[in-house]
Amino acid sequence: MSNALLEIRKLRVNIGERALLRDLNLTIRAGETHVLMGQNGAGKSTLAAAIMGNPAYTVVSGEILFEGEDITGESTDKRARRGIFLSFQNPGEVPGVTLESFIRAAKGAREGASAPRMLAFRRELNGAMDGLGIPREYADRDLNVGFSGGEKKKSEILQLLALRPRLAVLDETDSGLDIDALRTVSDNIRAFKTSDNALLIITHNARLAEGIGVDFVHVLENGRIAVSGGPELVSRITERGFGKLTFDAP
Ligand SMILES: Nc1ncnc2c1ncn2[C@@H]1O[C@H](COP(=O)(O)OP(=O)(O)O)[C@@H](O)[C@H]1O
Ligand SMILES: [Mg+2]
Repeated sequence: MSNALLEIRKLRVNIGERALLRDLNLTIRAGETHVLMGQNGAGKSTLAAAIMGNPAYTVVSGEILFEGEDITGESTDKRARRGIFLSFQNPGEVPGVTLESFIRAAKGAREGASAPRMLAFRRELNGAMDGLGIPREYADRDLNVGFSGGEKKKSEILQLLALRPRLAVLDETDSGLDIDALRTVSDNIRAFKTSDNALLIITHNARLAEGIGVDFVHVLENGRIAVSGGPELVSRITERGFGKLTFDAP
């Protein structure tokens, strides 16, 4: 598995005494797009948090490898610098930090001396904002403060486009988007995708999955992956729900 970007082996994650993920295995290679589905409370956002190294979630056992290196105990900050990106299900508001300065700082931390200078950065940002239909003056607004739900999601995608991570985990990025915004977002995600990066998309939206193009679909149930398959799983789930697909954990 030379080109495995992310390899999760027998991961067990707890909050306090409660197990949220149990013996979860997942491998994502460069060039692949994976969709993660599953009922509310199945553990999807928990998996995203564990991949990003959110300290609220305790890894009890198992490991997370990124490009072959064990990152299980690594800080979120270091993971971000390696090129792991998480778009939050509920993006937070950050008063006092503008959208532009936030993205510029994150890009500087990731790219160091090779980060673009001010004017080039602004030009790049403007281009990405135009492509997403975010008014340019939003660059000077405090990050996500007073943004609508859909605008917050677009602001997350703007960060994705600016940071160009190797692995992007998108947690229900489609929720709260109108039909046009959904198309814009899926077009931008598709344009971001190359043979060198990978996506893990948490969604209930068949239209988003179709718009982006999917290689693998996984269904999370009770903290473990109960079913994996190809893109056809998305329409099966949309038509029949999760009940007939999954089985009780042993
Ligand atoms: N920080 C937390 N504290 C307590 N319980 C949590 C926390 N995060 C998640 N949980 C619980 O873990 C389960 C899985 O949550 P989550 O991963 O958010 O599910 P999903 O994203 O699949 O809807 C839920 O029962 C949820 O209430
Ligand atoms: Mg969730």
